[in-house]
Amino acid sequence: MQIRNATAIAHPNIALIKYWGNRDHALRLPANSSLSMNLAALATTTTVEFISDLGTDRVVIDGAEATASARERVVAHLDRVRALASLNTRAIVTSHNNFPAGTGLASSASAFAALSVAACAAAGLALSTDALSRLARRGSGSACRSVPSGFVLWNTCDEDDCSFGRTLAPPYHWDLRDVIAIVESAHKATGSTEGHAIAGTSPFQVARVASTPERLERCRAAILAHDFLALADVIEQDALAMHAVMMTSVPSLLYWRPATLAVMQAVRAWRAAGLAVAFTIDAGPNVHCICPAEFSTQVERLVRAIPGVERVLVSGVGEGSHLVS
Ligand code: PMV
Repeated sequence: MQIRNATAIAHPNIALIKYWGNRDHALRLPANSSLSMNLAALATTTTVEFISDLGTDRVVIDGAEATASARERVVAHLDRVRALASLNTRAIVTSHNNFPAGTGLASSASAFAALSVAACAAAGLALSTDALSRLARRGSGSACRSVPSGFVLWNTCDEDDCSFGRTLAPPYHWDLRDVIAIVESAHKATGSTEGHAIAGTSPFQVARVASTPERLERCRAAILAHDFLALADVIEQDALAMHAVMMTSVPSLLYWRPATLAVMQAVRAWRAAGLAVAFTIDAGPNVHCICPAEFSTQVERLVRAIPGVERVLVSGVGEGSHLVS
C-alpha cells in the first residue's frame, strides 16, 4: 500500500466588493471582479491522503462523514487534481474548521482553498499561486481569493486561465478587523451556488454588474490610501447592491433577520457619531463590522449589547493558504 499525503491551512475571506452571479456557471467565471480580505482568526485545516488500495474517496468534515452533496463537490474537485496529475488513486480527505460549528460561517472558500493546496501537494503537483487560485475557483468561486495573502483582487475575465485572485496588499498593509455579529447560527436556506444561478433573474443585476468597476476602483484606492471613510461608503453600497439583487431575484432571497438590520443601523449611527466602522453582509444574516484595529474592542462591546446578537467573533487580516506538512 502506498500513501501520499499533505496538509494545508486556509482562511476564509470577507468580500469588500462582492462576487454575485457567474458569466459561466460550470467554470465559475464571475459576472464581476471582486475584492476581499482573508480572515486570520478563522481557519480550515485539510489533510489529503491518496492511498493506493482505496476503493472510493472518503470525506470527513469536523469529525463527521460528509453529507452526500458535500462529498460529491469534494470528489469533483479531487477529480480535477487527479486529471492534472494523471493520477487514478482514491483519497481520504479530513477537514477541520477552527470556527465553531453552527455559526453560519461554514465557509466553502477556506474549504476549497485548503483542499486545492493539500491535494495538489499530495498528488506531487507544484502549481504557482495563480494556478492554485484558479483551481480553487472551480470548487467555490470565492475560494480563489483565499489562496493569495491579505487583501485580494479577483479579476473577472472570459476564460478559465485568466480568472484568479492576486494579492493587492499584504496583511500588514492595514490592520483592519472584522467584528462578526452572529445573529443566526442555522444553516442558510439557499446556498451561494443556487444564488449565483438566479442572480440574472433580478432586473438590478445588470446595473449592479455595470457599476461594479467604479466601486472596485474606489475600494482599491481606499485600501491603498488607508482611507477608512471612503472604504466605509463603498463597501456598504456594494453589499446593499448585492442584497438588492438577491431580494429581487426569482425566487427572492431575503437573508436578513431583524437583528441584521439592527446591527446595520447601529453601525451607521456609530459612524455618524465619529466611530470608524462599516458593515458588509454575505449570503446570510450575519453582519461583518469592519473597523481599524484600534476601535475593535469598542466595536465588539457595542455589537455584543445589541439584542439578537448571539455571539461575536473578531479577526484581523490573514495570510494566504499554505502547506503545514
Ligand atoms: O464562492 P461562493 O459561491 O460561496 O460565493 C460567495 C458569494 C458571497 O459570499 C455572497 C460574496 C463574495 O464575494 O464572497
